[in-house]
Amino acid sequence: MSPDWTPVNAAADRLSKTTLAALSDSDEGRFAAFSHALDGLLIDFSRQKLDAGALEALTGFAKARGFEDFRTRLFAGEAVNATEGRPALHMAWRADGGADYPAAGPDIAESVADERARMRALADGIRSGEITGARGRPIRQVLHLGIGGSDLGPRLVYDALKHERDPLMTLRFAANIDPAELNDALEGLDPETTLVIIVSKSFTTPETLTNARHARFWLEQGLGDAEAAKAQLAAVSANPEKAQDFGVPANRIFGFQDWVGGRYSLWSSVSLSLEIALEAGAMDALRAGAAAMDAHFRDAKLDQNIPLLKALTDLWNARALGYPTRCVAPYSTRLRLLPGFLQQLEMESNGKGVALDGAPVAASSPVVWGAEGTNAQHAFFQQLHQGPQGAPVDFMAVKESHEARDDMHRALLANCIAQGEALMRGRSAEAVRAEMQAGGADDAEIARLAPHRVCPGDRPSTTFILDRLDARTLGLLLALFEHKTAAEGALIGVNSFDQYGVELGKTLARRALPAIEGETDQGVDATSAALIAHLRR
Ligand code: F6P
Repeated sequence: MSPDWTPVNAAADRLSKTTLAALSDSDEGRFAAFSHALDGLLIDFSRQKLDAGALEALTGFAKARGFEDFRTRLFAGEAVNATEGRPALHMAWRADGGADYPAAGPDIAESVADERARMRALADGIRSGEITGARGRPIRQVLHLGIGGSDLGPRLVYDALKHERDPLMTLRFAANIDPAELNDALEGLDPETTLVIIVSKSFTTPETLTNARHARFWLEQGLGDAEAAKAQLAAVSANPEKAQDFGVPANRIFGFQDWVGGRYSLWSSVSLSLEIALEAGAMDALRAGAAAMDAHFRDAKLDQNIPLLKALTDLWNARALGYPTRCVAPYSTRLRLLPGFLQQLEMESNGKGVALDGAPVAASSPVVWGAEGTNAQHAFFQQLHQGPQGAPVDFMAVKESHEARDDMHRALLANCIAQGEALMRGRSAEAVRAEMQAGGADDAEIARLAPHRVCPGDRPSTTFILDRLDARTLGLLLALFEHKTAAEGALIGVNSFDQYGVELGKTLARRALPAIEGETDQGVDATSAALIAHLRR
């Protein structure tokens, strides 16, 4: 029998009779009670429409739902990915030496340490110039080819940690099968000084293999021979035989285990390109931050557990308050790729139609979307402030900037904080009338325009503040979202670690290609055939 959600609905019902502003104004201790800090990361839930009773109902739901058992099984390496019969032990890649995760296998600490040492050796060798390209020139550019979980994490980290990049190295990414992306990535690269890293857990993903074939050809053309081109390839995969068949030299193939899910794989050898292109030690710091969040998630009590509280808050907004989407608005250009990363993490993990027992689920992951502030304010925030649907927002700000121009940074922070307040308080009809009267408007004008100026308010948000955007704090933040996603999946009752839904489109694309190429349109439906005929005309 599924656990009783009634106390949560009862709390939502009770709170529907008050406003967020009233909750905030009536309790001086609200910020202290609803905010949590871990190392250099603060997360504040005081602008969520919650009170102590609602939180108690939610943590009670988590208990009844077996959250603690799920957490124990996750860390013990049990097959929480039940449909595929695998554990989800990506945490072993960021544990110090992997020692905390014996369930991952008897030699796991050693094999993780060995693989990390191999990655570091390649990175150090390249940076020092000891490892060169086939023509003897130093490698100074890296092309990372991968898609989904084999792309989004490394791309985000490279963008976010600009100030921790090795100034000698350039890193480019190409994911899409659209040739535009590969062409852009190759622009200005020199085949004699470029290492191409093919990143694919399965080593069967058509986008990545197509990009890899084109990049290998580009190397062959530039270097004048196929063997030289192969010497400038590296691969990261849980399927090393396939990488070898592709022509990647065995000593340049880096492995990881099938129990590291694609969208949880940043911590593994998937980040080889970052190991090369960021300063030495940056990846260790990123992993250390994530490991600190692992320990917190594993050990903290339910009502103090940051990833669980975030999962419960998101579930509360989606299911009890009825918001079908959630907006992520990092007030940091360096974190502009975070919404896209979270889309895969949360929607590929929890966008499921059935629970683990095969029963339909009423609601799964909310749709996650967003963009960086303040740009987002001038794009879609109008709808957040006045559109009838509204959406809870995750605001993110970084206390200390790495950029100069402190006045600009202070203005950025002011905007971030003000938006949360504006969403929460809104602007009442009385306030609008008073403002307009003070501005000299007559009664007719006030009656005509006031309704357009009212902002309903009472719209929830969560605020994250990073002391600084360094590798360790970024590791904490990303692992927080990984654990919140898995916790939310467990609370909904779905398997957060499979992704069968994406298979169907891939199968149909395989059928559509011969039709596009003019061979046969068998296997595509009438609309697809008509669209393809139009494309071919
Ligand atoms: O889109 C489905 C998916 O399997 C993702 O889960 C994964 O991150 C991505 O494709 C890439 O897969 P691979 O690393 O096997 O190339």
